[in-house]
Amino acid sequence: MISDGYYNSKKSDDLYEDLCGQQSSPESLTMSRIRCWLRGIDFRVIFFLLIIFPAGILTIYCHGQKITYFLRPLWECPPKPFIPITHYYNQNVSMETLCKLHGWGIREFPRRVYDAVLFSNEVDMLMIRWKELYPYITRFVLLESNSTFTGLPKPLNFAANRDKFKFLEPRLTYGEIGGRFRRGENPFVEEAYQRLALDQLLRVAGIDDDDLLIMSDVDEIPSAHTIDLLRWCDDIPPVLHLQLKNYLYSFEFEHYQLSWRASVHRYQKGKTKYAHYRQTDYLLSDSGWHCSFCFRYISDFIFKMKAYSHNDRVRFSHFLNPKRIQDIICKGADLYDMLPEEYTFKDIIGKMGPIPHSFSAIHLPSFLLENADNYRYLLPGNCLRERN
Ligand SMILES: *[C@@H]1O[C@H](CO)[C@@H](O)[C@H](O)[C@H]1NC(C)=O
Ligand SMILES: *[C@@H]1O[C@H](CO)[C@@H](O)[C@H](O)[C@H]1NC(C)=O
Repeated sequence: MISDGYYNSKKSDDLYEDLCGQQSSPESLTMSRIRCWLRGIDFRVIFFLLIIFPAGILTIYCHGQKITYFLRPLWECPPKPFIPITHYYNQNVSMETLCKLHGWGIREFPRRVYDAVLFSNEVDMLMIRWKELYPYITRFVLLESNSTFTGLPKPLNFAANRDKFKFLEPRLTYGEIGGRFRRGENPFVEEAYQRLALDQLLRVAGIDDDDLLIMSDVDEIPSAHTIDLLRWCDDIPPVLHLQLKNYLYSFEFEHYQLSWRASVHRYQKGKTKYAHYRQTDYLLSDSGWHCSFCFRYISDFIFKMKAYSHNDRVRFSHFLNPKRIQDIICKGADLYDMLPEEYTFKDIIGKMGPIPHSFSAIHLPSFLLENADNYRYLLPGNCLRERN
């Protein structure tokens, strides 16, 4: 038996008849098929084999990632959409009214709040983050490793800059962890290992049931009023993702992509695990800022491109050329020369090309504006990075 199709389906018999113009018995079908195929070989096939085919291989080698990204609508469905929660805020509206607008009650006293981060080299972002959140955080928890997620050794950058953060030393729980330095391992494994250690450090810091825990990368900065709202209101969801305004390189380039990974949890002992993936459908709108690749020095960009979990995107060594990186930062283009990660052809084409410049510096973290001289590179119109 070859397959039922050959014997039972009239349709497949018709097909072979059409192809070769004569009725064949099932046994001779394969042979006649090969004969048909051989007859078809001519100059065009040779041309294809010698020129088009090698050119195709070369194109796929150089632009393979772009081709797969362009075909994403064919191989990947869009993720399940979030359920957005409307976010109300004005500094002149009372907390009781704000809680009520969200459908929540107000508490007699606020919850304690823990902010926990894995630190790599984002000293400026950490300063802006901690100054923004300072009034509402019970304990700042920071863990750093001497290994990047990709297994490269790195200095303990926080330890080296710790004296800059004296203002919150009494509220700081700091931890160091040794890297495992496994060669060739998936970077997500080292990342998971470091997040697990952060869970332990949180318990050392004294976190308790119903305390709020912020889980986010250093460059995902919730706004102070968002955290104040969540610590004062009763009945908030046990887990809530925060939608942050997404920026690339500085607050000059607002990126179209949704930033949703940051989350706030009402801590439950034995249940809450530090994570950076999707944990619920609820997404609180407009809750702060996410500034990716917002570095002061070009050398920081190069370090991040090598150390990042997606280091496979550095396909060619010229991607790490400082002059190229500087040009890309000023244009708002893509460091990895990739296509937009979208799920319809219309969105991919609509979002291709550099991010438009923005000239708004409204509603940015207050510490950034108060110290604009020191953080000029983060503000619109200042894309040139200093040499170090
Ligand atoms: C905001 O509140 C302050 C003090 O309660 C008041 O003086 C001020 O007029 C209010 N501003 C607006 C725009 O309502
Ligand atoms: C990383 O830290 C661990 C523990 O502190 C230490 O044993 C190890 O030698 C360090 N490795 C490097 C490359 O610094």
